[in-house]
Amino acid sequence: MDQLVIQGRHPLRGTIRISGAKNAALPILAATLLTGGTFRLQNIPRLVDIKTFTDLLTDLGVAVKYGADNDSDFLDIDSSGLSDHEAPYDLVRRMRASILVLGPLISRFGKARVSLPGGCAIGARPINLHLKGLELMGVKLRLKEGYIEARAGRLNGAHIYFDTPSVTGTENLMMAAVLANGTTVLGNAAREPEVVALGQMLNQMGAKIRGLGSNTVKIEGVKELRSVDWEIVPDRIEAGTYMMAAGAAGGELIIENVMADHLEAVISKLRSTGLQIEVDNARISVRKKGILHSVDVKTLPYPGFPTDLQAQILVLMALAGGLSVITETIFENRFMHVAELRRLGADIKVEGRSAIIKGVKELNGAPVMATDLRASASLVLAGLAAKGTTTISRVYHLDRGYEHLEQKLAAVGAKIKREKRPD
Ligand code: EPU
Repeated sequence: MDQLVIQGRHPLRGTIRISGAKNAALPILAATLLTGGTFRLQNIPRLVDIKTFTDLLTDLGVAVKYGADNDSDFLDIDSSGLSDHEAPYDLVRRMRASILVLGPLISRFGKARVSLPGGCAIGARPINLHLKGLELMGVKLRLKEGYIEARAGRLNGAHIYFDTPSVTGTENLMMAAVLANGTTVLGNAAREPEVVALGQMLNQMGAKIRGLGSNTVKIEGVKELRSVDWEIVPDRIEAGTYMMAAGAAGGELIIENVMADHLEAVISKLRSTGLQIEVDNARISVRKKGILHSVDVKTLPYPGFPTDLQAQILVLMALAGGLSVITETIFENRFMHVAELRRLGADIKVEGRSAIIKGVKELNGAPVMATDLRASASLVLAGLAAKGTTTISRVYHLDRGYEHLEQKLAAVGAKIKREKRPD
């Protein structure tokens, strides 16, 4: 198994180019199931989660081929051979986002058999809201041998309210509703840029979706859709992670190929920590000058501060000049990184859904273990800041969501390398 070895305390200088967003690419891949045809998806990140999803598409009868041109990697997809309606346990258990095939498969076949995702490191992560919405649209559901079995004729439009906004829930129901009979209204819908990007692609395919980016999304069903070429938006979470890397290691980074509008809450919070941030079109520069100020952070659905950057900002607070409270309101168990950060000397106490952090003068390198994707990113930031050597094991978590992480960081001066872990 691979591990990352980081020698800390080397300031970062240079430019990092942001890849396409994993969480935008996954629902867009699912949307190719809605019609038989050929798609070219540009700016596709080479990530394990994308590979897992394309394995699932292949299993369903879709042809998938990677290619590359000057700018980025792309995927050519031909969904005309789609022949199966079952997402097997072996693929779904590798990635919860596989549940995104449920809406499109029911829409296309009037039936689907999808393994129910199990628990996960960051919380229980139920899918009751996806299922409730589908039932309101006329889908008959039952759970058999760990699989959701869904049957319907043509779906009917419905008024559906999310008790809490769900990103993949909104995406799944949008994809179920585009080919339904009549209009569907999604209330308290998720407003994340990845949801908007999916809706824009569906509209390009011939769907009629209004209200994208607001919390009420209206979908007027159409009879059929066509295939399109599409470009994946830049990854705001990857961008935020590298902005914070400059805060942890010091120096000055330019983050390019980024949509600053998607990072408003993050930029505002990082400016309050004292980081100097300039935004110029698709580039953001981040410079650290002096000690970081402590700030309180609460994760919220978009446009609030993203839960996917909570672990990373916690590292900055561990190095800041005072006391801060970080409250996680989205997932109930997303502080697994705290115990690992304590091994580096961080002073953090978790009480319920809040972490209380007292900034320390320095962190000291140690062996640590990655527990989930974003927690792993926080350990990398802590390693960049720490004195001495930090060794991070279980880096397969990072490979799910950060494209070429060590190459990107090494190119701006980080001393980071991947090696085989001696057993
Ligand atoms: N929820 C329910 N019932 C549901 C669905 C969600 O109670 O049916 C709750 C969840 O338990 C959670 C909240 O609603 O408390 C929000 O969860 P959401 O459904 O929005 O999360 P998700 O769609 O499963 C996506 C991202 C996550 C990201 C969250 C929150 C993808 C593929 N995943 O997950 O990304 O943390 O939204 O923004 O888009 C990551 O990339 O590391 C990651 C975990």
